[in-house]
Amino acid sequence: MKLGVVILAAGQGTRMKSDLPKVLHPLADRPLVGHVITTARQLNADRIAVVYGHGGEQVPRAFSDTDLAWVEQAQQLGTGHAVEQAMPRMSEMDRVLVLYGDVPLTSVDTLQSLLDKASDTPLALLTVDLENPSGYGRIVRDTESSRILRIVEQKDASDAELSIQEINTGILVADRSKLSAWLSGLENANAQGEYYLTDIVEMAVNEGIRVSSTQPEDLYEVVGVNDRRQLSELERRYQHLAADRLMREGVTLRDPARFDLRGTLTVGKDVEIDINVLIEGDVYLGDRVRVGPNTVIRNSRIDSDVELFENCIVENSTVGAGGRIGPYARLRPGAELSTEVHVGNFVEIKKSTVDHGSKINHLSYIGDCSIGKSVNIGAGTITCNYDGANKFRTIIHDDVFIGSDTQLVAPVEVGRGATVGAGATITRDVPQDSLSVSRAKQTDIDGWKRPRKEKKA
Ligand code: UD1
Ligand code: CA
Repeated sequence: MKLGVVILAAGQGTRMKSDLPKVLHPLADRPLVGHVITTARQLNADRIAVVYGHGGEQVPRAFSDTDLAWVEQAQQLGTGHAVEQAMPRMSEMDRVLVLYGDVPLTSVDTLQSLLDKASDTPLALLTVDLENPSGYGRIVRDTESSRILRIVEQKDASDAELSIQEINTGILVADRSKLSAWLSGLENANAQGEYYLTDIVEMAVNEGIRVSSTQPEDLYEVVGVNDRRQLSELERRYQHLAADRLMREGVTLRDPARFDLRGTLTVGKDVEIDINVLIEGDVYLGDRVRVGPNTVIRNSRIDSDVELFENCIVENSTVGAGGRIGPYARLRPGAELSTEVHVGNFVEIKKSTVDHGSKINHLSYIGDCSIGKSVNIGAGTITCNYDGANKFRTIIHDDVFIGSDTQLVAPVEVGRGATVGAGATITRDVPQDSLSVSRAKQTDIDGWKRPRKEKKA
């Protein structure tokens, strides 16, 4: 059985009050419709078509996936019309599942059980009971058999129908060839003058088909985003689910409500994450890694037993096992720290490798640099890697000691075992095992009087 998925994403989303098409607004850093596409992939869909319209080419341009079928619906003439536009792309499919680009949290399990429901009938609907069903299409059932008869839209419903609390989520699965036939028979003689997808239900019933239905586990699975408030509610829900999943995998979250995941986090055992931590992109945290409060980690690999103290920013970097980073450290792209490296407060490292056991504990800038093993970089050391136009490398070999407040003017190399005295400006290579000092000799002027402010009378 080949499964095709049609994702409706042509609507404008007026209430977002935005130039960005609604389905491109991000949830956990990914466009809303991106979440729906991922869900479709997890269902092993053989074909995924996205119907877009408002915002034009912005929507397809936001995705580089080559396997998606993009279908333009230039005018939004209704949900039935929208699905119909995608049907030519579904010709080889057996069944078609209709999803919505602004309903991002539908679970794979729920959709799988809907597909199971549809295994012995050509049409199955995902419905839900709402205390306040206002605005939604109502599921009209036969009072005796409780069989589904049709869906009536809010604007077309009678008073009696308006009191029905079972509503249409919009999500449905249908036999492909029957769906094609039903769609071509749709008319728009209704209150909104639209081609309603929902009208296919009555068509199926008229053919003697028994339309089945199932309900989601969680209401959030069928909630759509219409405004930024709903977007924020779904973001919180998404984060709640992500935190839950991580705790089940064995991560300690000091407060799951103060943790945000915008990407994928892979973890070892006994990871501990303190409050206000933000994880972005692809992040790996090894066994026993501890992340302090207010830390951001983006596309990075943190190996086992690393301690990241509070207020660090780690981006496109790797931290080897046993490292101690922060508080207030910034690892910029290309910081590659080997095992047991210590990086302290107000240290910035960019595009540099630091080998085993080296320490950069205070107030330093290390850029375009390679640092050997067991090196000690004193407080306030700066690699001067940039002349205004070009970047140059600094090479520091094993067992070097760089005194505090040193500038290393690149390109420059400090030989193995060398020592640089505090306050140096190093412009030439330092030979191995030597001491380099480069500062004016101290002179002491006897009885020197410091200028004083005159006291006002
Ligand atoms: C629709 C259902 C209603 C259901 C509700 C759930 C119909 C006729 N009604 O109503 O039974 O309770 O969803 O939210 O289907 N879209 C297009 N192209 C169009 C029209 C819509 O892509 O021409 C997309 C929209 O972007 C939106 C979705 O389809 O994401 C639903 O469209 P909308 O007009 O909001 O339908 P509702 O009136 O909410
Ligand atoms: Ca709607």
